[in-house]
Amino acid sequence: RLRMTDDTPAATDLDALQREAAGCTRCPLYSDATQVVMGEGPRDAPLMVVGEQPGDQEDLAGRPFVGPAGQLFDRIAGEVGLDRDAAFVTNAVKHFKFQARGKRRIHQKPDAGEVTACRWWLEAERNLIKPRLILAMGATAAASVTGRGQGIMKRRGTFEETEDGTQVLLTLHPSYLLRVPNEQARQAATRDFRADLEQAVHWL
Ligand code: URA
Repeated sequence: RLRMTDDTPAATDLDALQREAAGCTRCPLYSDATQVVMGEGPRDAPLMVVGEQPGDQEDLAGRPFVGPAGQLFDRIAGEVGLDRDAAFVTNAVKHFKFQARGKRRIHQKPDAGEVTACRWWLEAERNLIKPRLILAMGATAAASVTGRGQGIMKRRGTFEETEDGTQVLLTLHPSYLLRVPNEQARQAATRDFRADLEQAVHWL
């Protein structure tokens, strides 16, 4: 069994945490991923944005939300005046989980054990940053941060609280917006996402 929160990483700054995480073997995902992708942003950021896991481009770049989902996030954040650089942007899971299909690497959803194992690193980031608001994007982030991943469509746009009393705003995952096949449904989901980011702006 994995040890959960009975200890925390020794790191007292983000660079040391990154070095510690680079050697992580808490779950099997490290073995196929290129590198660990930790969060980035100011140490005193009042807002922490949490996604699912690095995608193909993030895995190669070593930075969160630089691929298509990140570009969509940046665009909508820009529209509502949310300065991404003022937030700490990270993921629930720090290694890319994928299935190789020819030259392509197809994203795979992390399972509950992987989310739980990696929660250790997310908590370490939370302990260093101490954000006032966590914006949890999608079911995996919701599961990691609130303990419950179900019902995100109904919960989005609402605030919940972590065990330590930190406010959590739930929203959709930007890559979900990229996948909605129906144009009208996609526009509606995008409006919802934009409205949620608009709420988060007030915490910056
Ligand atoms: N999707 C995520 O959840 N996180 C990233 O960093 C990129 C895509």
